[in-house]
Amino acid sequence: MNVTHLECALCGLRHEAGVLQNLCIECGKPLLVRYDLEKAAQTMTKEALPSRESSLWRYREVLPVSDWNNVVSFGEGWTPLLNAEKLAESLPVPLDLFIKDEGQNPTQSFKARGMTAAISMAKELRVRKVAVPSAGNAAGAMAAYAARAGMEAHIFMPSDTPTANVVECRQTGANVTLVDGLITDCGKIVAERKQAEGWFDVSTLKEPYRVEGKKTMGYELAEQLPELPDVIIYPTGEGTGLIGMWKAFDEMQEMGWIGAKRPRMVSVQSTTCAPIVRAFENGERFAEEFENASTVASGLRVPKAIGDFLILDAIRASGGTAIAVDDEELVRAVGEIGSVTGIFCAPEGAACLPALRRLIADGKVTAGETVVLFNTGSGIKYLEAFA
Ligand SMILES: Cc1ncc(COP(=O)(O)O)c(C=O)c1O
Ligand SMILES: [Zn+2]
Repeated sequence: MNVTHLECALCGLRHEAGVLQNLCIECGKPLLVRYDLEKAAQTMTKEALPSRESSLWRYREVLPVSDWNNVVSFGEGWTPLLNAEKLAESLPVPLDLFIKDEGQNPTQSFKARGMTAAISMAKELRVRKVAVPSAGNAAGAMAAYAARAGMEAHIFMPSDTPTANVVECRQTGANVTLVDGLITDCGKIVAERKQAEGWFDVSTLKEPYRVEGKKTMGYELAEQLPELPDVIIYPTGEGTGLIGMWKAFDEMQEMGWIGAKRPRMVSVQSTTCAPIVRAFENGERFAEEFENASTVASGLRVPKAIGDFLILDAIRASGGTAIAVDDEELVRAVGEIGSVTGIFCAPEGAACLPALRRLIADGKVTAGETVVLFNTGSGIKYLEAFA
């Protein structure tokens, strides 16, 4: 186990690892896990990795679990990076285009990555009951991992969450409460009740480990491509995947896997819920809450993200940008991508295509570049959106 401590992402305050932690005790911002990377690099070499398991636990040296018996897994991660040559042909400039297909994870979204790490650590730290506010896919993942770990799961979702997410949670034994409001309202209920109920709060970035699971997408890109892509396009709600990959790149550099060059990170949101895009355009480091947030891409319906500054810092440091696309465009993109690549994307993932078209039109992506679109989940969970 190479974890040295937890560190506040804003004020840097050191927190102890190995005990239950939520947010920074000083400033209330997210905590990130720090490792002895010199030690990790001794065994996690590019030569050692190919013979390891086809799951994200292949990166065990930079994951937080200390006792292997505590790992709660369905074999998540190590998803294919699919060549999207045909889709690239429909674009005005030639690109090396790939889709990282996260819909192939257990519970059909990249939320499985975060939950395998969070629930494994909850098990290690002897948690019996977990609670989460969710836009849908995180709930489905948490219900499954909690059931596998023998934990009680309490889930709070907006009442108009896609039906598949509600059904999967109930069928995997979770206690589901539908809330007349947004994910932020669900989060408030968890915060109010958790102490009395004895729940551990597994909200995105309000515990330190989901982001550790998500960061493995960055490690996988480094293994699956000869070098990191020029551009990563990522549908952003709370931003855990983007924050995680950015952290992974820093870790990889420290371990000597890569140099200082980074992919340009592009955050995609819906025009009807675009707090990060607005903050990016206004030159702000913290994003104001987005009023009347709505979008059929339910995972993007996050009016206020606690890790806003981490998303915005990464986008800016990478020379990337943030783009909002209309719901109509992103739903249409599901069929466009599907009919050419065979991948039935979640609306969130499909939003990457209109965003890429915009980047090309603005001269921000140019001929010959390598671009990775993140399809963060499967369209099968969103049947209502295609009615
Ligand atoms: C399919 C899908 N894509 C993207 C997101 C956004 O993920 P994050 O909140 O980590 O930015 C979500 C979140 O619910 C999701 O379910
Ligand atoms: Zn702090």
